[in-house]
Amino acid sequence: MSASNRLQQVQSHLEAADPFAQDRTRIDGHVVLITGAAQGIGRATASLLARQGARIAINDLDEAKAKLAVDELTAAGHEAFHVAGDMLDEGFPPKLVNAVIQRFGKINCLINNAGFCFDSALHKMSEEKFDVIMKIHNYVPYRMIKALSTHWMDPANLEMPKCVINIASTSGLHGAMGQINYSTAKAGIIGMTKTVASEWARYNVRANTVAYGWIDTRITRPPTGAEKMVLAGQEIVSGIPLNAKKWRDTSDIPLGRPGTITDAAGVMLFLACPLSSYVTGTVIECTGGRYMYGIR
Ligand SMILES: NC(=O)c1ccc[n+]([C@@H]2O[C@H](COP(=O)([O-])OP(=O)(O)OC[C@H]3O[C@@H](n4cnc5c(N)ncnc54)[C@H](O)[C@@H]3O)[C@@H](O)[C@H]2O)c1
Repeated sequence: MSASNRLQQVQSHLEAADPFAQDRTRIDGHVVLITGAAQGIGRATASLLARQGARIAINDLDEAKAKLAVDELTAAGHEAFHVAGDMLDEGFPPKLVNAVIQRFGKINCLINNAGFCFDSALHKMSEEKFDVIMKIHNYVPYRMIKALSTHWMDPANLEMPKCVINIASTSGLHGAMGQINYSTAKAGIIGMTKTVASEWARYNVRANTVAYGWIDTRITRPPTGAEKMVLAGQEIVSGIPLNAKKWRDTSDIPLGRPGTITDAAGVMLFLACPLSSYVTGTVIECTGGRYMYGIR
């Protein structure tokens, strides 16, 4: 379809009478699949998007917490279900995508959120630590997006709104001490997202990245030792030590505080809803302004 035809088509849809007669923050009936959504940013996003009318599929490694999140959503009258499983399992992404399509008939929005840090100074970083971080933040999103290709490239689904939201970090934009693995992977996801935005625009797919700064979740709180995962044979303990003084200093955050999961979810909604219908291939920073004045 030519550019002018596409414009006319959109204009007739959106700009016929009053383009704002409908609430463009609503995503009624949209199916949103969020990985790693049993807690933290993913869970808050599930909650906000459900309120805006979405049907939610939650994946997480932690089945008990995933079930709790779903119970909370269904008790509030929303449609939701969970598919527990380890995103690092190579065969799992297509199974997850198929499970959601089977349950809800379609997927409008994929949020590749599952993730963690596994820090070490560069000279001490092991291949195994480097590898698992590349896998969770790059291979897993790539496999998830690819698993959607048949569904999203189907001409019958051309008009259906479709979007990918990937999660980066200020570590990927600016680098971060102790995070040679995480900063490499979080920079990589930005290139991946732009490529999806280029290749799949013709299928009416938007793809964007959110780069978060310091959001208050278990991965940024001081480690208690209680929040542990064993993945790829390695024990991964959540948390950033209290003595990471430079990182915990908020003086370079113009808004003067860490972000909340509510702050984080707001950007996800913007990217998932029609308000962002002409936004693709971009990176939105949700950082309270951190690094605006340069690298620390
Ligand atoms: N919190 C921050 O400051 C911050 C900053 C930048 C980016 N991020 C990114 O945001 C995303 C969410 O992080 P969060 O802060 O909400 O952390 P979180 O630990 O609260 O939530 C992450 C969830 O992902 C799940 N998960 C991890 N590995 C998984 C796997 N292999 N399979 C399935 N589920 C898995 C965990 O069980 C957990 O429920 C991550 O990609 C993280 O890298 C967070």
